[in-house]
Order: sequence, then structure tokens, then C-alpha cells
Amino acid sequence: MPPITRDTAMTSEGHHLDPENWDDFSRDMHKLMDDCLDRMKAARELPWQPKPADMADKMALTPDAIGVGAAQSMTHLTQDIMPYATGNTHPKFFGWVHGAGLPVSVGAELVAATMNSNCGGRDHGAMEVERATLDWLLGVSGLPEQASAILTSGTSQATILALTAARNRQFGHDIRQKGIQSLPPVSVYVRKGTHSCIGKALEVMGFGAGAIHVVDTDDDMRMDLASLKDAVASDRAKGRVPLAIVGTAGSVNTGSYDSLHAIADFCAKEDIWFHVDAAFGFWARLADAPWKQLVDGMERANSIACDFHKWMSIPYDCGACMIYDRELHFNTFTSRPNYLEQQAEGLGGGDLWMCDYGLELSRGFKALKIWTAIKSIGEGAFSASITDNCKQAALMGELVEASDVLELPFKVSSNVCCMYVSQGDVTKIAAKLQLSGEAVFSTTNIKGRPCLRAALVNHRTTSQDIREAVNAVEQAVRDSL
Ligand SMILES: Cc1ncc(COP(=O)(O)O)c(C=O)c1O
Repeated sequence: MPPITRDTAMTSEGHHLDPENWDDFSRDMHKLMDDCLDRMKAARELPWQPKPADMADKMALTPDAIGVGAAQSMTHLTQDIMPYATGNTHPKFFGWVHGAGLPVSVGAELVAATMNSNCGGRDHGAMEVERATLDWLLGVSGLPEQASAILTSGTSQATILALTAARNRQFGHDIRQKGIQSLPPVSVYVRKGTHSCIGKALEVMGFGAGAIHVVDTDDDMRMDLASLKDAVASDRAKGRVPLAIVGTAGSVNTGSYDSLHAIADFCAKEDIWFHVDAAFGFWARLADAPWKQLVDGMERANSIACDFHKWMSIPYDCGACMIYDRELHFNTFTSRPNYLEQQAEGLGGGDLWMCDYGLELSRGFKALKIWTAIKSIGEGAFSASITDNCKQAALMGELVEASDVLELPFKVSSNVCCMYVSQGDVTKIAAKLQLSGEAVFSTTNIKGRPCLRAALVNHRTTSQDIREAVNAVEQAVRDSL
């Protein structure tokens, strides 16, 4: 079929970009929606598959390949793009920490795109949805009433916001004008296995990743408090200023949770900012006991970073930064040149301008996909699904322990399970399982030895999937000779 090229001379002012024929467009959109829902319904039959070798060429926006019209481009969307997703919608996807998505959020995304609201600020309905979403999130966090929050692209961005607020509390808001040149050296304390986003945040803030002070872990893979105390004392003696201590709630490699109460006690005693990286672990808050107790003490943090796109299954991307003190949060980021001045009435009014709480002025309506998920599904179903993932990780751990070709590097404590293999190369075994469509594991290194790693955050996963996946790993190990 030859490409349909839109002749701009035939469209008139005010009609250049909307569909030429709304009836045709509506029919094409309905088909698109059906194709999307069919794919979501069939998630179990659609594991990750490699993209075609010529995909880059097919996607190129060369002059002869553009302006083809809505019908043809929608066919490209569903036939040439949609099948080659990351694969995390599949119940046997356990790699990295990838949420599985939610059908109901697809509807919300459609409405958000239709409204096309700019959620940087002003007085419109989307801001009330964002307010309600943030209030719900803060309620789950247990932070004090004067806390505030903002939705971000993810935990990495939330970490930059959180540590910037820590910097301003430490050195005063005039640092926004003066910059960091005249500051003493700072240290941020993390334990071994802390996510790289902390280092990146410090790089972006100009302190450099060298400001990180890595503290040992104890036998339970938690931040070792004695080592933390020594580290802070020795840094203070050298004239370094402790800027923040980062507690991890759900470490990326092992799913371990630091003793948040103990860190909070130490931070309070030493007057040091307490940040919690709870990218996925935050949501253990919704799980049944004993897992929900893993995050006890998180409510005493000065800041928390978490993601909705991981264990809450909200479609990418969406994270959040929470700060214990709204005024500090506001004063860290607010900047209103005269064209953004607050008005008493009209669209320039409203008391919640999210640009006052983060870096972005223009922001999409991320809140709607979260609000819709919580409104329609309810907290109870999320709790059940998160609890199931913890039980499944425990089951995987038991199966690994019982296996004659696999070995458990650490006792499973939340939703992450790793496994050493008795023979073969873990990278090749992971790739083989991915390419065969049997399961997606990622790989990592525990105690200096490579292993397969599963992070269970997928609401579609069942115990049967876990049994089948471990069987597939065992078979791949046996075949690897
Ligand atoms: C513990 C932890 N912290 C931070 C991050 C970074 O989060 P994001 O990818 O949303 O920036 C991750 C991502 O997996 C994580 O597991």
C-alpha cells in the first residue's frame, strides 16, 4: 500500500493536525483499543521476544516514511511495535524490578492524553486528582501530617529532590543563590548494595559520587550500625559534614531491609537527615505480616523515594518523593517569575502548584493512572498481590534449597530470590531462558559469585509459574555442559 501523504495545502488554518475524518479516526481508535486489550488479556501467552533485526530501519522517520495517516501508523503501533515490549507484562518475568502494568491504567492514560493537562500548577481538576493521590500515598507512608510529596519519573529523580532538600536544611536556602562552592565537604552514608541512584544524585548536585561513604552490612545484610557510627565519627573528625544517611527498604540485589528504627534513632541523635530508598520496598507497607513490619520506622524518615511503576504495577513511568516538612520542601524548589505569579482567581489560582515542589515546570498527568488504579481496584487487592509475591519468593527459595543443581546465596526475606548454579555460565543460562520464552531472570553477583536473580513484583505470577520457572532453570543448568 503506498503511503498516504497529507497534502498540507488541502488542510486549512486550525485544521492542520486533527484527523481529517473523525469517523474514520474513531473506527481506527476503537480497533487500536481492541488490539491493546487483546494483548493484555493474552499476557500469559506473550513472553519477551527479541525485536526483529530490521526494526531500527523500520522505525526510522525518514522523509518517505512519515505523514502516512492515522490508520497506517496505528497498524505500525500494534503490529510492528507492541509485540516487542520489555516483556514485563508476562507472569514469568522476574528480571530487574519491573512492574507488570494494569489494564485499568490504560483507560486512565487515554483520558490523561485527551485532557492533556499541564500539572505543573494552576487551578484545574487534574490538580485535585494529584492532591488526592499524594494524600493517599502520604497516608500509606505514615509520615507526619505536615509532610508533602510530588510524583516523579522514578526513584532516581526523587532521590535528587530528596537530597536537595537535605542540603538546603543543612546549609540554608541561600545555597540556591550561592551554590555549593564554599561548602565544606559532605558525606552521604549508604550501606553496601545501595542503588546507584544515590551516587548519581550526588554527581548531579555537584558533590560528586565521591561524597558517598559506604558502610558495611551485618550478617542479615542490613546496614551495620556500629560501622555507621564509626564512619560518621571519623568523617566529622576530618571536617566532613554528614549530609544524609540512606536507609534501604528493599535492596536491589537481595531485597533486604535496613533496621529503619535504629537508623532513625541514630539520625535523630546526631541531627542527620534520614533518607529511605524504598523504590519497591515501600509497598511492603501494604503486605500482610510479617512482611509489612519490614518497613517499620520508615515513617520517621526526613525523605522517602519510591516507585509506583514497580510493585504497584502502574504503567511506566511513575515514582514519588516524600519530604517530612512541606515548608522545607516548598522553599527548596519554589521559583515563580512574574509570568507564574499566583492569582486570586481564575486558572492562575489554586493552592497546589507542583512546580513548587520539584524541578519540572511542565508535568504530565501521572496521578490519573494511579488514582484510577486505587479507585477501581482498592487497597485490599494490592495488599493480596504484594503478599503473594513475598510468599512466591519464599517458595522459590525453598525450591532452590531443595535442588541438586541450584544453591541459595542468602535466605529470602521479602520478594527477591537469587540462585547460584552448580555448572554453566549464569549469563548464558539467563539469555537461554529469555530467548526460549520460558522465564526472564536477570543476573547479579552475590558475595563475589555470579547468580540468577528474581524480583517478584508481578501481580500475574502464580506459585505454579514459580515451580515451572525453577524447573526450567534446573533443566538449563543440566543442559549447560
Ligand atoms: C532499590 C532501588 N533504588 C532505586 C532504584 C531506581 O529507581 P528508578 O529506576 O525508578 O529510577 C531502583 C530500581 O530498580 C531500586 O531497585
